[in-house]
Amino acid sequence: MAQFRLPPNARIAKGKAWPAPDAAKKPRRFRIYRYDPDGEDNPRLDTYTVDLDDCGPMVLDALIKIKNEVDSTLAFRRSCREGVCGSCAFNIGGTNTLACTSFIADYRGDIAIYPLPHLPVVKDLVPDLTQAYAQLASVEPWLKTRTPAPERERLQSPEDREKLDGLWECVLCFSCSTSCPSYWWNGERYLGPAVLLQAYRWIADSRDEYTGERLDDLEDPFRLYRCHTIMNCTNTCPKHLNPAKAIAETKKLMVARQ
Ligand code: SF4
Ligand code: FES
Repeated sequence: MAQFRLPPNARIAKGKAWPAPDAAKKPRRFRIYRYDPDGEDNPRLDTYTVDLDDCGPMVLDALIKIKNEVDSTLAFRRSCREGVCGSCAFNIGGTNTLACTSFIADYRGDIAIYPLPHLPVVKDLVPDLTQAYAQLASVEPWLKTRTPAPERERLQSPEDREKLDGLWECVLCFSCSTSCPSYWWNGERYLGPAVLLQAYRWIADSRDEYTGERLDDLEDPFRLYRCHTIMNCTNTCPKHLNPAKAIAETKKLMVARQ
């Protein structure tokens, strides 16, 4: 029988263990993916034991504590610490989510933290988002108009503004795209749920005057239609958005204009 295994240089090795501080009252283990693609070594899982009595309540608090007090070589992105910059997305306990809005208390046992899946790794928990950002740029995520600019702002009715709810809140963390098997397998050609939600955010905007061109740009067997409604995107979104619905609305507009 055929056996499938990762190539030897991709297998995750046992890593270092960093014990709890002396007199820790509430020790908790974090098992964290470490990898430096510029080095010779395989990826490894390091185990850090943190005293939760001396740590903030969120997973990001533990990561920052580890980096500041235990192991400054650990690399990860973060900025806002309140779920608006989208930079602290990791795979935590098997789910893609934001570390700064995830309570440590919501996890049982050791907490495993990996980078977002199926992306090249820059270092440790930092994925390479170059392709994802190029795909985002390709949908031109800004207001495009033909009519001359009014003296003041372009107005929008409250009803039209409401159509953007559930879209503008996206923080571009790419948790959804990197949970999507279609994106894993066709990420070079399929735009993925995060970028398609952004594309729809401008298609749905009553002030935008390039709807037809935006739909033309997506009318492609890969860019849009590799979505097979698997729904991992919606299930994982840490902002409780529904990228699958945005994709479905885009497909409906494609049908309606034929
Ligand atoms: S839709 Fe949700 S999961 Fe996807 S990028 Fe936006 S905030 Fe992140
Ligand atoms: S640090 Fe900004 S979303 Fe988590």
